[in-house]
Amino acid sequence: MSSFSNRIVNWYKSNGRHDLPWRKNISPYSIWISEIMLQQTQVKTVVPYFNKFIKKYPNLDALLKASEDEILAQWSGLGFYRRAKNIYKACRVISEDFNNKLPININDLESLPGIGRSTAGAIMSIAFNKGHPILDANVKRVLGRYKKISFKTENEKQKKLWLISEKLTPNKESFEYTQGIMDLGATHCSKSRPRCDLCPVSNDCDSAFKEVSNKVSLRKAIQKPTVKLNFILPHTKNEILMHKKQASEYWESLWIPIDGNEVKIKGDQKYIKIDINHPLSHLNLDMKIRAFEIDKKYDLESNLEYKWIKKSKVHEYAMPTPIKKVVSTL
Ligand code: ADE
Repeated sequence: MSSFSNRIVNWYKSNGRHDLPWRKNISPYSIWISEIMLQQTQVKTVVPYFNKFIKKYPNLDALLKASEDEILAQWSGLGFYRRAKNIYKACRVISEDFNNKLPININDLESLPGIGRSTAGAIMSIAFNKGHPILDANVKRVLGRYKKISFKTENEKQKKLWLISEKLTPNKESFEYTQGIMDLGATHCSKSRPRCDLCPVSNDCDSAFKEVSNKVSLRKAIQKPTVKLNFILPHTKNEILMHKKQASEYWESLWIPIDGNEVKIKGDQKYIKIDINHPLSHLNLDMKIRAFEIDKKYDLESNLEYKWIKKSKVHEYAMPTPIKKVVSTL
């Protein structure tokens, strides 16, 4: 039987998802952007965002000219907005410290904002064809099944899996191997319905053809805290009042409605009330939005960073998806 990596590489060549947009017209820049977008987000969600982003910012020079707000606006709807802020920061470091080229060195890559060990490994392997281990969620599952390991803590599990990944990662055909193992995890080695009959490494996999555990993941079972938000959304015929959220555990730097606990509605306004529950990865947002039309815009007696945004220009601002939906109906 050929090695684990050979079987993955051969499987990738005939079964991999070669049509994914970041696997065409490859550049280190486009691989970096795709790997950041693919952190915590599924392939099918990323595809349209990646295409739009690369069209608007085809290379580092184009990205360097963009403001953080403009990059956030492109990111709007993709979630985990810190990633967009890190892209803005990393772009400056690449320009100033690395001669405007993505560094071909794992340690330099890891020094950039937003790039951890697995993302650096993926960029080295896919953009530069240099074998470095990766360990994203899909790869963790593939390797964790292939080599059954015992562990007491998550930390120990992580360490052991990195060692396995190091051992199995080849130093040739790194492009094919890395994307192959990612694709295998996303397709045949899925969480609930693994297709061991189609898997290229099932012959010597410790878990092949065994029942998958249907234990509810502990992380999912933990109740997320709920944050209650009380928004006001005054708008004139052509403009809406929004403010830019400061550092926070969610929606940092995005444009959202004003906090109704901080700023009171003037006079006795008729409003429409919109209730939205919006789950985030780490908390639930329970929003009440009071939207009301007024004749004329006014200055706020508040030191919030706020702006009357033209309704026709809303798409130029980074807003969380549920807020964008409400705003587009006004
Ligand atoms: N997940 C993370 N990186 C990926 C890639 N390059 N292709 C498919 N899925 C991925």
